[in-house]
Amino acid sequence: MAEYAEPFYDVNLSYAENYERGPFGAFGAALAGHAQPDGRARSPELGADLFGFPVNLPFGIPAGPLLNSRFTAAAFRMGFDLAVYKTVRSRAWECNPFPNVLSVHPRTDSLTPGDPELDEGVLADGRFGRPLSISNSFGVPSRDPDEWQPDMRDAIAAAGSGQLLIPSFQGSRQDGMTTGEYIADHVAAAKLVQETGAQLVEMNTSCPNEGRNRLLCDDPRLVGEITESVKNEIGDMPLIVKLAYLPSEEALERMVRETAAHGSVQGFATINTVSAKLVDRHGNQALPGEGRERSGVCGAAIRGAGLNMVRRLAGMRERLKLDFAIIGIGGVMNPADYRDYRAAGADAVMSATGAMWDCELAHQIKAGLGQ
Ligand SMILES: Cc1cc2nc3c(=O)[nH]c(=O)nc-3n(C[C@H](O)[C@H](O)[C@H](O)COP(=O)(O)O)c2cc1C
Repeated sequence: MAEYAEPFYDVNLSYAENYERGPFGAFGAALAGHAQPDGRARSPELGADLFGFPVNLPFGIPAGPLLNSRFTAAAFRMGFDLAVYKTVRSRAWECNPFPNVLSVHPRTDSLTPGDPELDEGVLADGRFGRPLSISNSFGVPSRDPDEWQPDMRDAIAAAGSGQLLIPSFQGSRQDGMTTGEYIADHVAAAKLVQETGAQLVEMNTSCPNEGRNRLLCDDPRLVGEITESVKNEIGDMPLIVKLAYLPSEEALERMVRETAAHGSVQGFATINTVSAKLVDRHGNQALPGEGRERSGVCGAAIRGAGLNMVRRLAGMRERLKLDFAIIGIGGVMNPADYRDYRAAGADAVMSATGAMWDCELAHQIKAGLGQ
């Protein structure tokens, strides 16, 4: 397997160690002062903008790998013009135990929800190489708002010209909570984000925030209720909803009708990881601990699923005559993948796994576009 350079998130360290000491590799060097915010020439994708905000190249890193303002500042310096600040909550939340990232080796090139392999077991271990697919199991940890709010302010301030910091948040379902309290928690988190001076915000509905392996985005009606309440709080600020792959056309259309068609949502970011049973080479559970039989797979193996979701959303946008933005995510590992997502209808494209292991990805895409 061909080797990658050092990733900016060190999978051999805990989440807390990465948070305190990262980023690593070329991102660490960029932060140490060997690069300036990369707001260079405008992209030939020209006049690129997202929700009216100018962006040099509509490409960046989605929610997750950029843990705090040091990571987002490094991403900007390395030419990623869109940087999503890892999902925060209205309260502090623990991270799942280490390890949090494994390499996965599906039998087939492409994994889409419904594939039998996802329930039979996908081999997961510590051998990272190309083609790179990984699983991540963090449980969406969050620092207390007293800590993340000032840090998010710093992250926003570090964006260069033509660069945009996008905060991500999600609601926290706790035992005994009523639906009203759950909705109110989303509104509280959105308000905390808005207080940092954010220009736009992303709401995550695609992690197991509804309890083990249950996703909020599987309930379009509830997402509609929540986004309406959040939008009432945040006013004109654009609201993006992060979606997992939704296999059913009917469910996807209901999601769009309950949110974007009402004007409460201005964009969708999709996809998140694809849930799989992870096994070691003996067929045993790969990640230690209760409730971790399944975990999300991302990277090269989910590119087909991501492109499929973006194409379907773009088709729906045209058919329903709506004008929401689409941020295409999933398995973007090289410049050709970026172009494929743009051709599929994405207004912007992001890479988590690909960018983590290839810090030069934004520069490579820009070079390929002739910058
Ligand atoms: C280390 C890591 C942490 C992630 N954490 C989050 C998160 O907190 N919130 C979220 O919405 N998505 C999270 N994701 C999912 C990514 O945003 C993205 O949707 C997914 O990884 C697919 O993109 P990729 O194939 O480029 O990795 C995370 C992904 C990775 C790799």
